[in-house]
Amino acid sequence: MLLELVTVAFWAMLPAYVPNNVAVLAGGGAPIDGGRTLGGRRLLGDGKTWRGTAVGTLAGLVLAQVLTVFAPVIVRMTGVALPTFPITAALGLAFGAMLGDITASFLKRRTGRERGVSFPVVDQLDFVAGALGCAALFDFAWFSATFSPPVLGVIVVLTPVLHVGTNVVAYVLGLKGEPY
Ligand code: CTP
Ligand code: MG
Repeated sequence: MLLELVTVAFWAMLPAYVPNNVAVLAGGGAPIDGGRTLGGRRLLGDGKTWRGTAVGTLAGLVLAQVLTVFAPVIVRMTGVALPTFPITAALGLAFGAMLGDITASFLKRRTGRERGVSFPVVDQLDFVAGALGCAALFDFAWFSATFSPPVLGVIVVLTPVLHVGTNVVAYVLGLKGEPY
């Protein structure tokens, strides 16, 4: 059933969705690249900070624990088979999401895009690629049990919609410089 697939996809990816949004709120301070450049352009740019990355990752880990506590109750009430998150999976999703976003900034700088300039598709799916890649790397058994091909399909369609939606909200609230 589609609603059930969407629910499982959203639940499984929540620890990957939240870090980037928390980073926007927690960002600031020293940039990861320390101001270093490569070929005359910043390695990553001022938009990737130690604090944003650390607090974002931590938020994803905490959320994964909360979801793990509540999963059995919701599963009993709804009958939807929601996954729980072992620490390996939580770390893969949360840190992977941040790493995907950081990798995208590296690519944006290499292709001459200044901080904050949009990079369609990459902006919307960088953290999904990072989160799924790291989750598979850190806990393949959990990854393959959780992300069936239909769930992965829903994630690829659903994520850009959610990403654009939350970024527009963050922009309207004045938390983010651009609506993407
Ligand atoms: N942020 C952070 N650390 C991260 C990711 C994000 O501190 N690892 C904060 C920064 O304050 C950043 C804001 O969240 O400006 C928005 O994130 P994002 O859109 O990813 O960065 P941009 O500033 O748009 O920079 P880039 O062009 O490199 O994506
Ligand atoms: Mg941006």
